[in-house]
Amino acid sequence: FNVPTPHNEPVLNYAAGSSERALLQAALTEARSQQIDIPMYIGDKEVRTATKLDIRPPHDHQHVLATFSEGDEGTVKDAIAAALAAKADWERLPWEQRAAIFLKAADLLAGPYRMKINAATMLGQSKNAYQAEIDSACEMIDFLRFNVHYMTEIYQQQPPISPKGIWNRVEQRPLEGFVFALTPFNFTAIAGNLPTSAAMMGNVVVWKPAYTQIYAANVLMQVFREAGVPPGVINLIYVDGPVAGDVIFNHPDFAGIHFTGSTPVFQTIWQTIGNNIHKYKSYPRIVGETGGKDFVLAHPSANAEVVSTALVRGAFEYQGQKCSAASRAYVPASLWPKVKELMQRDLASIKMGPVEDFGNFVNAVITEASFDKLAKYIDAAKADSGVEVVAGGGYNKTKGWFIEPTVLKVNDPYYVTMCTELFGPVLTVYVYEDEQFDEILDVVDKTSVYALTGSIISQDRYAIAQATYHLRNAAGNFYINDKPTGAVVGQQPFGGARGSGTNDKAGSMINLLRWVSPRTIKETF
Ligand code: SER
Repeated sequence: FNVPTPHNEPVLNYAAGSSERALLQAALTEARSQQIDIPMYIGDKEVRTATKLDIRPPHDHQHVLATFSEGDEGTVKDAIAAALAAKADWERLPWEQRAAIFLKAADLLAGPYRMKINAATMLGQSKNAYQAEIDSACEMIDFLRFNVHYMTEIYQQQPPISPKGIWNRVEQRPLEGFVFALTPFNFTAIAGNLPTSAAMMGNVVVWKPAYTQIYAANVLMQVFREAGVPPGVINLIYVDGPVAGDVIFNHPDFAGIHFTGSTPVFQTIWQTIGNNIHKYKSYPRIVGETGGKDFVLAHPSANAEVVSTALVRGAFEYQGQKCSAASRAYVPASLWPKVKELMQRDLASIKMGPVEDFGNFVNAVITEASFDKLAKYIDAAKADSGVEVVAGGGYNKTKGWFIEPTVLKVNDPYYVTMCTELFGPVLTVYVYEDEQFDEILDVVDKTSVYALTGSIISQDRYAIAQATYHLRNAAGNFYINDKPTGAVVGQQPFGGARGSGTNDKAGSMINLLRWVSPRTIKETF
């Protein structure tokens, strides 16, 4: 079988007066007007409990958008049981039948569900229309279509050689047990990719999203069901992390985890799995994308406009809450006055506010805890005589969790905000002497405890080559003359090593191969 050749879903621009803007606005109004009660999805059941929690838009925290039911230990056990009950039929289903389901899910998202998924991401995660279009609709559609394509390549790969009288073959089996997908708030597409990529390869999944992403996860689940994912193949539950972990990581059928989230949580999970290793049938697959402290390094030959744009867009799109966001920059002294002027000019024109006004580039950060943490770092920077607040520095939580895009200039390349992941709209810049480019390469590498994304901006090919080599382990996604965000499925497979994860590139064959366990069969005639 050949599946359709995948192409990246064209991005709608929601221009003022366009029909797509009117449709999206109608979807936002509709979503805001209904206070839905979101169930968990276990097997063929929609499960509600007496423990109801609110979902509120981060930019409008007094408005209750929806409620959801929180589950407990029993919920997790039920979800595992439902997954295991669905396993035999699902893994025996020919792979092209599975492909059809996920291709249909992509079509549903591209068509009838597009406005709904974008509106849900905008309201639930405070993401503006353009970022939602890219990161929830298009990236999710791309994950589904490209993964189906990579899946077919895995199932149709060249067999091993077979000498006369022998037939050797390799069978790609799903993992023995269930896969746990633990997904983040910041990208609806990642939340949907983690369960579907494992399910596509014939696995059954227990999916636990971040509580701050449940509103859009619910829409994804409706899409998966309408596309024909059978009951029990993907089970969506909302349970406190440690409670869920206690059941899952002690279960003999735990076969793997597909994770995106924080480094400390991933490390704790890894340790727990290690401690329980004797309880499992197989060594579980541990696939995770974790923290980042992503850099932009400008060379003295760089174009100041390119540097400024890479920093403003790279650091402040989605309030700096992309794992790939630029959060530290190294700019040569000769270039800094111009870069500073351009950034101040651009940031002065950027508007901050609720997502419902399409003119707002910056919206709210995800939670009050995140707001408070960022405000604390900003206050400490303001009180430090060694730090210059180049832009922003303000914050306000009256209506939503709003933090101004903030640029700090520091004198110390090891200053706390140069090294600590903040996950918000705070960029720290260190200005280095032009002749110290070699030394600064060392500093960037040494401080890359995380190694997710990074950029070199330069017009000097020798400097580009030097940085590309010297920083070879400092970023899993390395950009030359661009911002370090916005990897596109099918174009730039995404993931990092060091403290940033297992680097099993999301949206690639490498990732899908983690969800199968090959069996080699030799038949002698
Ligand atoms: N794909 C996103 C980006 O590159 C991160 O997951 O920004």
